[in-house]
Amino acid sequence: MPGSSAHSASLRVNPRVARAGHGAAVELRPDTGTILKEEPGTLIWRERLADGTEAVIKFYRRGLLAWCRCRLSAFRTWNEFRALRQLESLGERCTPPLFWGHGYFGRYGWGELLAMRWLPGCRALADVLAADPAAGRKLDLAPLWSTVGRLHDAGLRHGTLLARNVLIRGEGDALEFILLDLPRFHRFPYGIRGTRMARYDLMFLANTLLRALPADDLPRWLGAYGMSDVQQVRFAADLRRFRNSSGLRRAVGLEFNARALLARVRHAVRSAGPAG
Ligand SMILES: Nc1ncnc2c1ncn2[C@@H]1O[C@H](COP(=O)(O)OP(=O)(O)OP(=O)(O)O)[C@@H](O)[C@H]1O
Ligand SMILES: [Mg+2]
Repeated sequence: MPGSSAHSASLRVNPRVARAGHGAAVELRPDTGTILKEEPGTLIWRERLADGTEAVIKFYRRGLLAWCRCRLSAFRTWNEFRALRQLESLGERCTPPLFWGHGYFGRYGWGELLAMRWLPGCRALADVLAADPAAGRKLDLAPLWSTVGRLHDAGLRHGTLLARNVLIRGEGDALEFILLDLPRFHRFPYGIRGTRMARYDLMFLANTLLRALPADDLPRWLGAYGMSDVQQVRFAADLRRFRNSSGLRRAVGLEFNARALLARVRHAVRSAGPAG
């Protein structure tokens, strides 16, 4: 992020909890917190807000043109904010959203950001599996797959369901799975179990888990998701042919944007139609 290596400047943001509407401006100070991730165009840090809340802030720098494009369509952080709100309302564990915002942030440039409540004691599932595969094999991942089943039944598609986008906390029977990072989230007005949308979520998750875990675990995971034996055999065959890539994630994201929009329009037309 050019010119921000010391993070000595503050970011003044109008916090939003809806697409529009402003609250009192909040002054964010990356230099008072802990930097969690820094890449060209991305800065993630943890900081204590003025009201005492420990927050994680994800800031994405956008060129002016890209920012204008997002204004006309949607900002990734708005989509992610809404996704987290949906998960919260279903009672599923996620990184609780605080607010999002976009605009011009002085020396940080044009961009958008998302603030979430910091959850202490979490580790990314991918990091745990990579650091200690033997310990990873002892984790019971069935509850994670049951959670994904509940999401799909509620019409929600995570969109970037990779092992690095699942946090874990605690151990044994108290092990918790926490979902995060949903910029490509979709909501359909019907359950999506058995559809392409659900299948891609499951493929991405299985694909990243099987980099560290044995394929023998798959039937248990799919059983927890709620697949019959026949569905499991078909899924395992599809998975062998599956090739994960960021390009594929982008492409199916665009396809499902169109499908979700059409589904919502169809649903609205049907709901507005004559009764009976
Ligand atoms: N609310 C939170 N509480 C605790 N840790 C968090 C929280 N939000 C994010 N993190 C940490 O920051 C990391 C990156 O977050 P996230 O996956 O949302 O961003 P990202 O830019 O998409 O990262 P990546 O591209 O590596 O997936 C997480 O793996 C986690 O370690
Ligand atoms: Mg992530």
